[in-house]
Amino acid sequence: MTRKILVTGGTGFIGSHTCVELIAGGYQVLVLDNLSNSRETVLDAIEQISGARPGFIRGDIRDRALLDSIFKQHDIGAVIHFAGLKAVGESVARPLDYHDNNVAGTVTLLQAMQQAGVRSLVFSSSATVYGDPQQLPIPEDHPLSATNPYGHTKLVLEEIMGQLSRSEPGWRIALLRYFNPVGAHPSGLIGEAPQGVPNNLMPYVAQVASGQRERVQVFGQDYDTPDGTGVRDYIHVMDLAQGHVAALRYLQDNEPELLAVNLGTGRGYSVLEMIQAFARSSGRDIPYTIAPRRPGDIAACWADTRLAREKLGWTAVRDIQEMCDDAWRWQARQS
Ligand code: NAD
Ligand code: WQD
Repeated sequence: MTRKILVTGGTGFIGSHTCVELIAGGYQVLVLDNLSNSRETVLDAIEQISGARPGFIRGDIRDRALLDSIFKQHDIGAVIHFAGLKAVGESVARPLDYHDNNVAGTVTLLQAMQQAGVRSLVFSSSATVYGDPQQLPIPEDHPLSATNPYGHTKLVLEEIMGQLSRSEPGWRIALLRYFNPVGAHPSGLIGEAPQGVPNNLMPYVAQVASGQRERVQVFGQDYDTPDGTGVRDYIHVMDLAQGHVAALRYLQDNEPELLAVNLGTGRGYSVLEMIQAFARSSGRDIPYTIAPRRPGDIAACWADTRLAREKLGWTAVRDIQEMCDDAWRWQARQS
């Protein structure tokens, strides 16, 4: 019998796309999600796209008894752990919620894995662990720091996993440091569904294009970048999803290891370039105004992608136009 992959947070934005790629790769998928930031109907869409429906358990990663029963009842070969809270501003307002959900929740998951003897884990980390970059592109051995409670949870979790793998050498752990995930599945059936006002640039731009919001506020035009606006390494969520499958295969095929690896494209685009690309994809005018810098923002950030290529044999292949085309196809289906 094929062992299952437990995907925590599997109905969320990145998790749902990864489920599609896991199923395409021949894996059996079991999703655990408390639906705090997603809907169960995502499973219908995953089934429609891939022809297979992941198993689903509605529940919380902080529920140790539930985790123990999942590991007892299912033959789990590895865990891909997306579940967590991710809004930077909210983490500043409610730090304890972030430490409880992200840190305590992950520690509970690790304890349950340890007890069950499941020691393969792919973890959603973030380029936020690099803080304000001292060099570009950013290599994995760049110094780490956190500028907000959300980033701190990722940093602490990376450290906890380092301590764990040193104390028990059987662990196979991939810390995937995502840059800026955007886009959607090309079917338009799954995508990013933020609740309320989007915090991130691209979902906001998509809602302006669709007429739900009036104009984009561009946070700062006085950065030391070619057009003065912030530059980021936007990566298509389908490339990111394929990066997870590559990481899983790597862990399965190699000796136990703790690997921290960037998932980005290695190229940066400015806020204005992204707005223009989305205007091309949507055929809509996207009004914007220049606003003050957003506190805590950095000027520019893009990944050194060599380690992902060398170790995982993975590179991102989709460009920003494809990211915007796919995001628009998804957005246009939202009422
Ligand atoms: P998302 O909110 O769409 O998905 C997270 C999922 O986890 C949601 O479905 C939510 O309901 C679930 N969840 C949250 N807390 C839970 C808990 N305690 N128990 C069970 N389920 C829980 O977010 P996403 O964008 O798909 O992000 C996935 C992961 O990637 C997160 O850990 C996030 O921090 C990380 N990440 C995201 C980005 C990004 O920009 N989207 C960048 C870097 C890292
Ligand atoms: C991108 C650019 C903004 C909104 C955040 C988290 C990071 C990671 C990814 C999880 C910046 C500008 C934005 C708007 C704008 N998440 N902007 N108007 O800040 O790079 O990263 O999401 O790990 O931890 O910090 O992404 O999409 O918010 O911003 O001008 O309405 O767009 O200033 O230059 P960011 P973002």
